[in-house]
Amino acid sequence: MAAVDIRGRDFVRLSDFTAEEIDTILNLAFEMKREQRTWSIKGKTLILLFFNSSLRTRTSFEIGAAQLSLQPVVLNVGQDTWNLEWREGVVMDGDSPEHIKDAAKVLSRYGDLIGVRSFPRLKNYEEDRQDPILASFQKYASAPLINLESAVEHPCQGLADLMTLRELFNQNTRRKKVVLTWAPHIKPLPLAVPHSFALAAALGGCDLTIAHPEKFDLEPEVVQQATKIAQANGGSVKVTHNQDEALRGAEVVYAKSWLSRAFYGRTDEELAYRKTLPSWTVNEAKMARTSRAKFMHCLPIRRNVVATDGVLDGDDCVIYQQAENRLHAQKALLVKMLGES
Ligand code: CP
Repeated sequence: MAAVDIRGRDFVRLSDFTAEEIDTILNLAFEMKREQRTWSIKGKTLILLFFNSSLRTRTSFEIGAAQLSLQPVVLNVGQDTWNLEWREGVVMDGDSPEHIKDAAKVLSRYGDLIGVRSFPRLKNYEEDRQDPILASFQKYASAPLINLESAVEHPCQGLADLMTLRELFNQNTRRKKVVLTWAPHIKPLPLAVPHSFALAAALGGCDLTIAHPEKFDLEPEVVQQATKIAQANGGSVKVTHNQDEALRGAEVVYAKSWLSRAFYGRTDEELAYRKTLPSWTVNEAKMARTSRAKFMHCLPIRRNVVATDGVLDGDDCVIYQQAENRLHAQKALLVKMLGES
């Protein structure tokens, strides 16, 4: 069998890599976590551009890069750099003095790999679902690109979440009853994490139930893609509006808030609609209905809004294990994308 080689490729969606390629990355991540030996990709440079705030993504990549003797350069766009324009052919007489076309070409001459975090503007769904900032980098950068979370996906989180699922079930995630439940929040949040988690659970062959109130459907294309992947791996995907029913017998509960596409760009209307819903906060009583489920969340989490302190500080909560796995999974990703030495 040919060795898996992902050098020179982009990692923008979890589906950019085959199941075999994901397995190879995660197998290396498990080796790294066991600290059996050290890896070095000395002499290469990683450029990380943040259009939005980050705690985990930024620190796990920066520390992971240092552990691999890789030089990280972290830039907060608009603070450390010029504001960047992404629209094609516009007269640039506004707030952005530099176009991504130029920035991406320049950064590709300095760095061996570029990571970009850019949240959606949350005004126009059709525009956001094209991930215009990321797409512009993908078009103009010649260096490989990693999506550090965009409008549509958070593949690095998905990778770490699949690693965590495998740890929880001693590598055998097939047919495990996993629930991705919508949860409340004070504002609409992107669809990236629930999309990537659905795809990760599908890759694991889990029996995934996606529970959310009416009007909070994930992108249908992603649900279809997850269903196909889950079936190919011996699992399944179903969607319900009944959180109680979904939680019964669950072995993993992944809570996450996400926006309603039905109210896209109309935040006040969406928040008013949310007030009409029963409580979707994950609490101890709800977790008691599960099959002693492990509780997952990507963080940051608003305590006692998304889930109660009792759940988050309880023995079955694995949020810090998940966050730690970002480091191992991404280090393995970097080694595989930039070549082992
Ligand atoms: N989960 C995650 O991506 O965290 P940050 O937003 O802090 O990077």
